[in-house]
Amino acid sequence: MFVYVGVFLLVAVFFSHTSEKGVNPQGICTDGYFQCTNDTFCVPQNQNCDGKVDCPEGSDEQNCDDQHDDDYWDHLYRKRPAAEHDDWNGNNCSLSYFGKCTCRKSDILCDYKNYEEAPDDLPEENINILDFTGNNFKNITRDSLKNIPDSVEKLILVHCNVIEIQPYAFFNLSNTNYLHLDNNHLKFIPQDVFAVNNRLKRLSLMYNDISKIHPRAFENLKQLHELDLRRNKLAKIDGRILDPLRNLAILYLQNNQITSVSVDSFPQMKLKHLSLMENKIVQMDIASFSHLQELKQLFLSNNLLPVLENGTFSNLTSLEALTLNNNYIKTIELGVFEDIVTLESLRLEGNQFKNLDKKVFEPLTNLRTIYFDRFEMCSFAQHVRNCQPKGDGISNQEHMLANPILRTSVWVMGAIGCTGNVVVLLGRHFAPTNNFVHSLYLRNLALSDLLMGVYLFIIAAQDQHYRGVYLSYQYIWRHSFVCKLCGFLSTLSCESSVLILSLVTWDRLVSVTQPLARRQLSRKFAVATLAALWASAVAVAAMPVGGVATSYFGDEFYGGNGVCLSLHIHDPYAMGWQYSAAMFVLVNTMALIFISYAYLRMIDEIRASGVACRSTRQTEDRDKVAQRFGVIVFTDCLCWVPIVLVKLVALSGIPIPQDLYAWLAIFVLPINSALNPVLYTLTTTVFKKQMEKLMDSCWRKKKRDQHNTASESAFSLSFGMFPKGGSSRRIFSYRRTHSSSMTVSKNSWKRSTAV
Ligand SMILES: *[C@@H]1O[C@H](CO)[C@@H](O)[C@H](O)[C@H]1NC(C)=O
Ligand SMILES: *[C@@H]1O[C@H](CO)[C@@H](O)[C@H](O)[C@H]1NC(C)=O
Ligand SMILES: *[C@@H]1O[C@H](CO)[C@@H](O)[C@H](O)[C@H]1NC(C)=O
Ligand SMILES: *[C@@H]1O[C@H](CO)[C@@H](O)[C@H](O)[C@H]1NC(C)=O
Ligand SMILES: *[C@@H]1O[C@H](CO)[C@@H](O)[C@H](O)[C@H]1NC(C)=O
Ligand SMILES: *[C@@H]1O[C@H](CO)[C@@H](O)[C@H](O)[C@H]1NC(C)=O
Repeated sequence: MFVYVGVFLLVAVFFSHTSEKGVNPQGICTDGYFQCTNDTFCVPQNQNCDGKVDCPEGSDEQNCDDQHDDDYWDHLYRKRPAAEHDDWNGNNCSLSYFGKCTCRKSDILCDYKNYEEAPDDLPEENINILDFTGNNFKNITRDSLKNIPDSVEKLILVHCNVIEIQPYAFFNLSNTNYLHLDNNHLKFIPQDVFAVNNRLKRLSLMYNDISKIHPRAFENLKQLHELDLRRNKLAKIDGRILDPLRNLAILYLQNNQITSVSVDSFPQMKLKHLSLMENKIVQMDIASFSHLQELKQLFLSNNLLPVLENGTFSNLTSLEALTLNNNYIKTIELGVFEDIVTLESLRLEGNQFKNLDKKVFEPLTNLRTIYFDRFEMCSFAQHVRNCQPKGDGISNQEHMLANPILRTSVWVMGAIGCTGNVVVLLGRHFAPTNNFVHSLYLRNLALSDLLMGVYLFIIAAQDQHYRGVYLSYQYIWRHSFVCKLCGFLSTLSCESSVLILSLVTWDRLVSVTQPLARRQLSRKFAVATLAALWASAVAVAAMPVGGVATSYFGDEFYGGNGVCLSLHIHDPYAMGWQYSAAMFVLVNTMALIFISYAYLRMIDEIRASGVACRSTRQTEDRDKVAQRFGVIVFTDCLCWVPIVLVKLVALSGIPIPQDLYAWLAIFVLPINSALNPVLYTLTTTVFKKQMEKLMDSCWRKKKRDQHNTASESAFSLSFGMFPKGGSSRRIFSYRRTHSSSMTVSKNSWKRSTAV
């Protein structure tokens, strides 16, 4: 064990110092490489903006910020309008105001005063913010706001219970710039609400129930710069409403019920930022945005778009940022992006497409940042300097196994798994045994654990093979026969190991609880059971490989990640997820519950049967047995509980940290297979010492009786096996039938249960 740990650390240190620079000193950078600013060095795509300096002057880590991405996130959240002056503390009123509202320099804050119309004591001086948050205006008529002096710059009517707005409602606000009517119950905006020659720059109507706007409602808003209609119930965009808004630059329409965008939706405008996020858009006509030549940012995330057609973005000659994440895009037609060559930032994560033509992104020569679901897709856009994500926790664009510790542990776990289990198999093969059935079970367990070791070695070897160039080969690798074989091996090993462990446990349980009911299991029966278990495990593991149900499993059931595991944690609802869930959650949980229950029963049984003997040694022994059984159940839990839990959490939709997935796949999953023999061999050295002591102390006691059982137990234990069923059954039969031979049973019991 300690030797292994030592080797592990050494190799880890070795690998962590040999990560390549990836520098290509030719001067001319080939496709997928980017030149350092003041040097002839070329740095591959994945080393740009990865937080690690690779260029001599560090230029590969400069200009990595995506301003458009910041804008995208910023536009989702808005501050409370009056918050801009929250640093004006104290009641230093600069107005001649003596009413019941709060005056703060040039602001008047009338929140939650239950006004139904504007009070008549407002001063005529220049009021900056007039805040009526939380009042009760209900029906804004021609007279409701007549007392508001026309000097008010920003009028806030948020949370005011407004249900209706009558014509001429805002006619007095001739100098007002900002009008906020958020969080009310408005359903309809009538016409003639705003006076001719008003100076409104920002109109915010978010969080209402607006489903209809009169086509001429905004006709006088010639100076409007920003219109916020998010979180309403608009079902379509009417070009006639927008037509008068000649100076509109920002239009927020996210979170409405819009289902389509057509050529008539947007008239000739100077719009710069347009958000149509979180609608239900399924259809965008060709040239829908063709009148918006000045548009810079177009946010179309979280819609239902299935396809991007050639021509959809035609005439968007200034577009710099486009977000299309979280749609259902399956196909992107060639030529879609030919119209928007100015694009700098593109989000495409959360869509359905798996494979794309490289030519799709070719026209986007100014693209600096692109966001995909999976790092593998960066191979579609090798000319984009900053491609996100850089990896998936297991692999990155360079290496199949990105983390040096992970890489080392694959070798080490593979080595431990293979040697341990081979030794067990060989030992069992050449040593004589007097309990054939039991030995058979353990050899099968070792064989199934061995498969996991083989799997790990294949993965380790493939990682070595694709070192540094993984991105170019990842598709071939994930769809290769070897990858399928790896998936098959790991699944087969997991399933057969779980089933055989359950079988072994069942066998022990029966022999402990009903020692007299059965004699030694018949060989035929054991062989048949094992054959059935293997057959079902092979069937389960082979099902996704064979061409039987390709429509259900897809072609990436095993090839979904670099290590070819079907754990499906990144994408818990990938094709065939029910199968994966049943395999990893249902079977493992059932087996775990059964094994825990069985060992608890056995400990109970042994305690009960031990009541008769009063010696302290007997009690100590019993505690040891309980401890050892505990170790078995604990290692099983260690392996399965995290996997079941993480799988359930992933299925419930909570995102799993990528690193956790990597460790789960490489470290936790094979831990049983790799550590079983080691744990048991380790226990044996302790046992051997105890044996020697015991031998010394009871040298004179019935040497011949001991001989038979001792040879079998000692041997099997030294190879990581425990003489379960057979011997313990024998012991208990001894105890109940020949109570006179207590010394014999005492010794052999201790050995037999010293798992
Ligand atoms: C590159 O060289 C120029 C002039 O020699 C210098 O001004 C600039 O700072 C250098 N850039 C970097 C990233 O070192
Ligand atoms: C209020 O105004 C007075 C004079 O205009 C000034 O001295 C004082 O510091 C101000 N207090 C605060 C809290 O701004
Ligand atoms: C609002 O006031 C107008 C007249 O000023 C009236 O016709 C209308 O019914 C009122 N609406 C509500 C909901 O009270
Ligand atoms: C509001 O407008 C009405 C007529 O449109 C006018 O009579 C009234 O004086 C105005 N109120 C203020 C405070 O300007
Ligand atoms: C594209 O923009 C130009 C003005 O730059 C305009 O004349 C033309 O009609 C637009 N194309 C379409 C299809 O609307
Ligand atoms: C896309 O449409 C444009 C204009 O209709 C056409 O010129 C171009 O060839 C199309 N591109 C592709 C790849 O079909």
